[in-house]
Amino acid sequence: MKIQSIRGVKDILPDEIWKWQYIESIAHNIFPRYGFKEIRLPIFEDTRLFSRSIGETTDIVEKEMYTFQDRGGDSITLRPEGTASVVRAYVEHKMYNPPSMLKMFYIGPMFRYERPQAGRLRQFNQIGVEAMGSASPVVDAEVMTMLMEFFKALGLTDIKLEINSLGSQECRPKYRKLLKTEIEQHLDQLCSNCKNRYQRNPLRVLDCKTEQCGKIAEGLPKLIDHLDPSSAEHFSEVRSLLDSAESSYSVNPNLVRGLDYYNRTAFEVTSQNLGAQNAICGGGRYDTLVEELDGPSTPCFGFALGLERLVSLVPFDEAKTLKKNPDIFIVCLGEEAKTTGFKIAHELRLKGFRVERDYEMGSMKSQMRKANKTQCRLTLILGENEIRSGKLILKNMETGEQTECPAEELATEIAKLSVDS
Ligand code: HAM
Repeated sequence: MKIQSIRGVKDILPDEIWKWQYIESIAHNIFPRYGFKEIRLPIFEDTRLFSRSIGETTDIVEKEMYTFQDRGGDSITLRPEGTASVVRAYVEHKMYNPPSMLKMFYIGPMFRYERPQAGRLRQFNQIGVEAMGSASPVVDAEVMTMLMEFFKALGLTDIKLEINSLGSQECRPKYRKLLKTEIEQHLDQLCSNCKNRYQRNPLRVLDCKTEQCGKIAEGLPKLIDHLDPSSAEHFSEVRSLLDSAESSYSVNPNLVRGLDYYNRTAFEVTSQNLGAQNAICGGGRYDTLVEELDGPSTPCFGFALGLERLVSLVPFDEAKTLKKNPDIFIVCLGEEAKTTGFKIAHELRLKGFRVERDYEMGSMKSQMRKANKTQCRLTLILGENEIRSGKLILKNMETGEQTECPAEELATEIAKLSVDS
């Protein structure tokens, strides 16, 4: 029986990895400008970490976690997201009192047992950022601006930033009660999922994607009309800061995140070009999570973006990105070329060039065909005559031009012709 990869899980093949590396390099370039440093976190954690932070009544905790007992009988969960792990690490290592805020980003796989479809996987990758230690609206605006700059650097157009305020513990319980009463007037029209969950999590009815619930949601009371005064002020400051940075956004009063730890600002970035799973990024403020996980009061703001969805949107320009094609392909003709080619390849690699060769040493035609397929910039033709005379033939694969090149000048010639070496 041929063993295949698990449903909803994807290989990232060598021919496409450069796209991922390119996106990651832009993150490594832009995020540190705003003070973010990378953190690498474990892929599995104590199950309680996620149930306590993401929320017992969320879809993730109720039905999407990969949870198992390890051989010691402990309940382990493959991380469905990164925020909980960042907070756990923050508290565990007492990373309190940095000079300014503590700002971290992470890149890696997350696991959710969702129904796989285009843009929705069971193992997917996120880039996430978490800024810890300030309740200032400047943080919200700065992090969202950084995100939009990141998308701009990747050449993304046609994306939409939507924001909302989810208020605080002061106003949300009252609003939930009001919302429940209103929803009950329309109970028979709700989708079966919302009928089941509105008691436990009425806010999710607001952003249910079914048409029938969408219509009802339009008429339901909005949380931004019931904010406590300080949440309302916070939201208005975030908006004016975004305005001053000329970041375009819209307020979506029905935006509700699928994780319970948020308060005040919540946001999503969507693209029309993604189909049904149109969210590239989601995030917001979570001011009480650190305390809930037994740390000191530490207001935080963060986001995570889905890398698979992002890779499908970026208009990659191969010439400018990190596609690592060989600088040179060595065509070896005859026994002597086998060893000379081996030596030349070794020396060139020591000098930092990417070198490929034909190991089977077929005909000139078949070796040239292979060279072409690797999309190398140059081909070195190494036959008995060339080795004897010390004049090697160098072919520029873009122009087709062939030049003679003394062996000792090879490195200089390649450096001249390779754009990025
Ligand atoms: P999230 O909205 O659950 O937020 O996920 C963020 C992004 O991950 C989504 O917008 C989407 O692009 C991608 N994503 C989620 N599920 C899948 C899936 N099954 N397949 C492919 N891509 C997916 C969080 O995870 C929060 N931790 C964000 C955050 C950080 N909030 C504060 N800090």
